[in-house]
This record gives sequence, structure tokens and C-alpha cells, in this order.
Amino acid sequence: MKKINVITIDGPSASGKGALARGIAHKFGFNILDSGVLYRLYAYLFNMSFSSNEIANQIERHVEFIKSKEKLLVSYKSTDVTSELRSEIIAKSASEHSSKKEVREALFNIQRNFYDGAGLVADGRDMGTVVFKDAKLKIFLTASPEERAKRRLIELQNLGQEVNMPDLIADIEQRDMKDSSRKLSPLLPAEDAHIIDSSNMKLEEVFSLTEKLIKKEFI
Ligand code: C5P
Repeated sequence: MKKINVITIDGPSASGKGALARGIAHKFGFNILDSGVLYRLYAYLFNMSFSSNEIANQIERHVEFIKSKEKLLVSYKSTDVTSELRSEIIAKSASEHSSKKEVREALFNIQRNFYDGAGLVADGRDMGTVVFKDAKLKIFLTASPEERAKRRLIELQNLGQEVNMPDLIADIEQRDMKDSSRKLSPLLPAEDAHIIDSSNMKLEEVFSLTEKLIKKEFI
């Protein structure tokens, strides 16, 4: 298989995939795909009564991603919807939709089209196993549910959303179960993925480990 200039970062909710992806994109000048946001957008637009086909079209025509080192902002029809998309309600609904074939198909080409030949870092659940099987470097990033809930709590508090830890841990565990046990594109490391358990690691440590892997594969 011809390998393409893509780094995939898969893993369960709040394992730090997004922060790692943004850091890599910033340092190496790569484009970025947060595929979870597409599933969240799907849920958001579905709630606005769009059908599967219309949703793909709406995303292609009206959604914009604005990246910085710290954040990936998402706008729909020029309105910033980042905070709405990050809510636990949308996350739950995204997870429910994501087990359906038509949903995964509707989003497949959109995801694949993020690759234009230049470097791309793509994070999600099936980036290394389905969407970018041909990626040069694959990472599976995980951490304990408690650690991930702590990280998600901080993320949601920074967005001004109210949440409590027990509910958050329960939500995260339930979502991971669903994502791992579904038939289509379950959350699994690709055979050729490097598995990183970040439960006891700082982001900088995960970053420097990943950097070494990138230098080995890309430079
Ligand atoms: O990563 P994030 O929490 O934003 O993803 C939201 C939901 O979208 C996940 O719980 C998962 O069900 C779904 N998803 C997926 N495949 C991806 C990315 C996200 O099924 N590649």
C-alpha cells in the first residue's frame, strides 16, 4: 500500500487526541482534521431537521474550521458553534448517530478530502483503521476513564459549561462502550498503530514521544 503524509490519532473520548493533534499541526505545519467534530456537526444539523445527504452538503458548503495552537474553532453559516458542539448532549447524540452506516458513509468523503497531498493530522476513532488506512504514522492514545473525565471537566469548565465528575465519568464510560462495541468502525487500535497510554503522562511528554515517531517516519 502506498503510504500518504497523514498522522492518525485515534483513541477514546478526552484522551488528549485534540491537544496532541493541534500541537503537531502547529509545530510541523500540517493541516488538521478533528473527525469527532464532524460527527458532532452531524448531530447538531440532524437536530435542525436536515437529512443525511443534506447534512454532508451543509457541512461542505457552510462549515469553516479556524485553527490555532490552542483551539479549533468551528463556524456554521459564519456563526461560531464551537461551544455548542462541545456540549455533552451533542457528544451523546453524535455517538448514537455514529453507529449508523449512512452517517459514516455521508462523512467518509468529507474526511478523506481533508487530505490534499500536504501533511495532515487526523484524530478520531477510525482514522487509522478505516479512513486513512494508508497513513504513514498511526497513534492510538488512551488514558484511564478517571483521568479522561478530569481533562474533559477542565475543557468544559473553560467553555463555561456546568458539569459534575460522577456524571461525566458515567457519560464517558458509556460512550466508550458504545464506540468500542459497535459493528461499524469500532474504536480499536490499527494493527500498525503505536499505543500510548497517557494516564501518567503530561501533554509535553506525549508530544515529545510523538515528535520522535514523526521524525523517524517523515523526516
Ligand atoms: O471525539 P469526539 O468526542 O468529539 O467524538 C464524538 C463522537 O463521535 C464519539 O463518541 C464517536 O461516537 C463519534 N466518532 C466516531 N468516529 C470518529 C470520530 C468520532 O464514531 N472518527
